[in-house]
Amino acid sequence: MEFAYEPVSEDLRVVVGVDFGTTYSGFAYSYIKENKERIEIVVNFDWGNSNNLIKTNTTLQYDDTYGCVVKWGIDALSSEPSKRKRLNLPKPLEYFKFYLGDVPANKKPILPQEITFEKAISDFLCEMGKTMKEKIENHWPGINFHKHVLLVFSVPAEFNENVRVIMRRCIYNAGLISSLGALNLQFTTEPEAASVYCINKLKELDMKAGVTYMIVDCGGGTVDLTVRRLLSGGRIAETTERTGDFCGGTFVDDEFLKFLEGKAGKSAVKMLKEKHYDQINYLIHKFFCPEIKIPFNGKKDDFKIIDFDIEKKCPALIQYINGSEKDQLENDEWVIELDYDTVQSFFDPIIRKITRLITLQLSKCSNCSVLFLVGGFGESRYLQQRIKEEFGNQVKIAIPPNPSAAILMGACEYGLDMKAVATRVLKWSYGVMISPVWVSVITRYFT
Ligand SMILES: Nc1ncnc2c1ncn2[C@@H]1O[C@H](COP(=O)(O)OP(=O)(O)OP(=O)(O)O)[C@@H](O)[C@H]1O
Ligand SMILES: [Mg+2]
Repeated sequence: MEFAYEPVSEDLRVVVGVDFGTTYSGFAYSYIKENKERIEIVVNFDWGNSNNLIKTNTTLQYDDTYGCVVKWGIDALSSEPSKRKRLNLPKPLEYFKFYLGDVPANKKPILPQEITFEKAISDFLCEMGKTMKEKIENHWPGINFHKHVLLVFSVPAEFNENVRVIMRRCIYNAGLISSLGALNLQFTTEPEAASVYCINKLKELDMKAGVTYMIVDCGGGTVDLTVRRLLSGGRIAETTERTGDFCGGTFVDDEFLKFLEGKAGKSAVKMLKEKHYDQINYLIHKFFCPEIKIPFNGKKDDFKIIDFDIEKKCPALIQYINGSEKDQLENDEWVIELDYDTVQSFFDPIIRKITRLITLQLSKCSNCSVLFLVGGFGESRYLQQRIKEEFGNQVKIAIPPNPSAAILMGACEYGLDMKAVATRVLKWSYGVMISPVWVSVITRYFT
């Protein structure tokens, strides 16, 4: 797609850092001050009916003709299965960010004919954009979103130029920029945003220039590792190449579904996914995550056996279960007991992948002092404990108070000070699109 970058407004007043994630999305904002003292970054916690969430689910619910979005975010998650006939709405759409990356085909959701992945992304960003605009306009009456706001979107490090062009188009379609080439939209990579966020924490840890630190960003889809060295003057430089893999929190959900396949049969779970996706969505987001994955802390003494009642959580599955699986489950009154070892087995293949990545990255740098654990999956107390056990004697393990907020806050901080990243390993370097016009404008604020 051809488009020309346009001169940016001379009057940027607010930076909005946006984290469009595979499972969760959110934003943070800040007023640009000439004087960089006392910069306040506000994380949005207000998502309509649900307050107190750092991010909301990257989920969409369309109407029955796919003509318009009727719900989005956490409100678009499916509710408890009921015998009463509800409005005949199509399945909620989620994980559409996977279409932008080089992920295994089975991780990409099946989208209806009417909705391309670009449309889903644009529609989601349009809905989130309404909240963004409302917040900014309430906070600073008179602000013109297209003119006075610098938008910084964080994108995975492996997103190539082409993917950023697609993202730019989606952001334009969502009405967040006034033209395709608008330069008040900038991208930074997720590891870069995480790194900018952690650098301020380094200062609190009294780390001096020269110190090397690793950031492990455990998201829903990907886990990204970068090693950086603190330069004098609070600048950072990447010292080794980035590594990463698809072993984020949603892969723990997949292990749970594999376990269900073992109990109910592979074809039964496949039918549930195809014909009753709303029940899969409910099972993962309203049962597995809040009742099993998030509370699991790896301590056997704290653990109580969990009853997974198929009749309540995913009744539509029952009609597809046959043979010995049916006999067994009927005998157990459709309740599967989840004990400690079973729940631990959902995590362990994923945690093994993560610890292998960390071992490899640590072996590449001899003097890494701190390991920062960020990202939503970085909040898992079991993952935290495993990382502390395995690496605590080699590096300090630092977990910021809100690991989930690291990327969106870092993206905002990055917008406030685009000079923070002094050097990058070339292979992964594309975060900022700099034009002569842009440089002259941005430096006006920060020099
Ligand atoms: N306390 C917790 N314990 C365990 N897992 C958690 C916890 N909080 C969030 N998660 C999991 O973390 C994942 C979401 O992390 P995050 O919000 O960083 O991902 P994302 O930005 O959507 O994904 P990506 O960065 O890969 O695009 C989900 O799988 C979620 O279930
Ligand atoms: Mg993320």
